[in-house]
Amino acid sequence: MRKQIAAANWKMNLTYQQGEKLLDEILHEKHALGAQQQVIFAVPYPYLIMAKSEVANEQNYFVAAQNCHHKKSGAYTGEIAVDMLKSIGIPYCVIGHSERREYFNESNQELAAKLDLLLEQEIQPIFCCGEPLSVREAGNQNEFVEIQLKESLFHLSATQLTKVVIAYEPIWAIGTGKTASSAQAQEMHAFIRSVLSKQYGAEVADSVSILYGGSVKAANADELFSQPDVDGGLVGGASLQSAEFIAIIKALKK
Ligand code: PGA
Repeated sequence: MRKQIAAANWKMNLTYQQGEKLLDEILHEKHALGAQQQVIFAVPYPYLIMAKSEVANEQNYFVAAQNCHHKKSGAYTGEIAVDMLKSIGIPYCVIGHSERREYFNESNQELAAKLDLLLEQEIQPIFCCGEPLSVREAGNQNEFVEIQLKESLFHLSATQLTKVVIAYEPIWAIGTGKTASSAQAQEMHAFIRSVLSKQYGAEVADSVSILYGGSVKAANADELFSQPDVDGGLVGGASLQSAEFIAIIKALKK
């Protein structure tokens, strides 16, 4: 079975102390994960080392950065390079979140460069894609997401692609309380897998974990994660509350 992943995206929330307390509460639950299950905490940069040491003795619990720069190094004041993440042993990095695409004008081409740098350093990218409301209302969501995938991912080799986790996050569902129905999520996830299959073959496409993101919470996680092509979730708001996130972890397919 593909990896089933519950990924917490803290975004720009919580102080260091609050973050440490939240991790303590979640890990205190001592929820043992199956061999194919993973929990990933995407925390703000200054908390990465703390979070990494919190999960150090936990099987299949990991940390992720929420972003990285698309250039290797240099005069980019305030930015964080992939090599820096590597040097502190970070195994995952979220890229292309819709908030970064929208507020920081990240393009598909920049994301392609980030993917190369991450894969070179053997950091697994969690690549976000997803359409805005206007595109969904016009019925063009498939074409929109296909272009995001093609322009950022399709230069990768099949072996490289198997290292990428994809997160489908319809923008109209992020932080709005408006979740895609499980049927809408399944339909898009199956479409994404078919696009990957055309380019890389069915075996590679079947091995890629595709997470759903957008108002995932304890109350809808079971239903969403039970869909055959939904391999877990990327969770914003609900990942900031221990009880909610623990319930989401427990909803992962076994
Ligand atoms: P949300 O955010 O769960 O608060 O909707 C998801 C995300 O942006 O990754």
